[in-house]
Amino acid sequence: MPTYYRIAPLLANQPLGATVEVRGWVRTRRDAKGDFSFLEINDGSTPANLQVIAEARLDNFANEVRRLTAGCAVEVVGTLVASPAKGQAVELKAEAVNVRGWADPEHYPLQKKRHSFEYLRTIPHLRPRTNSLGAVARLRGALSFAIHRFFNQRGFVHIHTPIITTSDCEGAGEMFTVTSLDLEHLPRTADGRVDKTRDFFGQPASLTVSGQLEAEVYALALGNVYTFGPTFRAENSNTSRHLAEFWMIEPEMAFCDLAGDIDLAEALLRQLIGEVIDAHPADLDLFCRYVDKTLAQRLDAVANREFARITYTEAVARLERSGRSFEFPVSWGADLQSEHERYLTDEVFKGPVVVTDYPKRIKPFYMRANDDGTTVAAMDILVPGIGEIVGGSQREERFDQLAARMDEMGIDREQYGWYLDLRRYGSAPHSGFGLGFERLVQFVTGMANIREVIPFPRTPGSAAR
Ligand code: 4AD
Ligand code: MG
Repeated sequence: MPTYYRIAPLLANQPLGATVEVRGWVRTRRDAKGDFSFLEINDGSTPANLQVIAEARLDNFANEVRRLTAGCAVEVVGTLVASPAKGQAVELKAEAVNVRGWADPEHYPLQKKRHSFEYLRTIPHLRPRTNSLGAVARLRGALSFAIHRFFNQRGFVHIHTPIITTSDCEGAGEMFTVTSLDLEHLPRTADGRVDKTRDFFGQPASLTVSGQLEAEVYALALGNVYTFGPTFRAENSNTSRHLAEFWMIEPEMAFCDLAGDIDLAEALLRQLIGEVIDAHPADLDLFCRYVDKTLAQRLDAVANREFARITYTEAVARLERSGRSFEFPVSWGADLQSEHERYLTDEVFKGPVVVTDYPKRIKPFYMRANDDGTTVAAMDILVPGIGEIVGGSQREERFDQLAARMDEMGIDREQYGWYLDLRRYGSAPHSGFGLGFERLVQFVTGMANIREVIPFPRTPGSAAR
């Protein structure tokens, strides 16, 4: 009986002389004159292919093996031998090649040449079969697992916050409505307005933009918690770093101030990147070679260097002094645009930078007011090439300050009564942040567009498949 192997461990262990079976998809077939063919097989476990030698003595050689093309699914049994040729250390001498699925070469869209990422986006159901998108998927999975490991090691409880919600955490009004009403026949109130009390939940509901508010509930009961789930934003941003559906990691810690919050975010990023560098050299190497030549150096800067820290006020001063003419003018009180963030990371600090204490006017209601009355205990972590990857804050734990801020911003105290209760009963200083998972995967792979790092990107005007 042959031993079934995935190609990654087979190439790593090289059990020469063993009879093994591999299962995967043909990348190429090359015919040597007359009596044998080379098949390159990929099974999704590594970017490397396994070379298979299929000889004419195989009973299906003429009518099947010689008809194999890119994309065909095969199971191959054979003996692993040292390869006499350059390019691979071992190869599989086939005793049987079973074809499980054909792929019509007239129509199969992935041919041997390199396809552009834009083109691959039009075939999201086939693109994970390419080297680069396969490597993205493996690294994405590895990062997800490493995130859970990080928090687990530190005693954080993983909680599941709801996807359907009646609160707008970020207060930006960028929420997708969830309704079961028939849009063609809407129930109306006496004055002709849509009667939302007759909707599924008896009130308007949306897809969550963040699990933070619910995470705060659990932090103020369990201490340290985190949520890691999909979040949704109906913002009309057609950029290389915005998605309408993205995943976010949100830790929340009781008895923790802004400095502790930054320390945790920095430790998380450093550990994740360190682990990927150690555990996934083959996938990472692909990105360093073919996607972004400066990647290794940038990852190294995160894994091994302290992040720079500056206040928003200092950052604005630096930008004003830069002598640059930015597309968006810099002035105290305006939000930093990505060109400003890039200037700070790529040119001033040449690495990640933590910007703190933003003006309260440009930040959500829940951030803790600083004593100066104009800024809040907020922090954003900016990284080269991407800009903002983490956004977080210390939360306003003082009832009076929070209630006053909500009134100022027109947020209904009654609707958020449960949130205010957390400040009525056993309130404690607490902090947390959100790490955008796709921005993290973008940073680790060097992929220029966020649409390449999530399997099925949802962006304005696009949600096919
Ligand atoms: O800065 P944001 O909006 O913060 C929050 O939602 C807080 N409630 C998080 C918290 O404190 N628990 O979003 C956090 C991060 C951003 O830094 C960015 O990395 C990512 O989420 N992000 C997006 N990623 C992809 N597409 C979008 N449209 C994103 N919007 C935010
Ligand atoms: Mg933000």
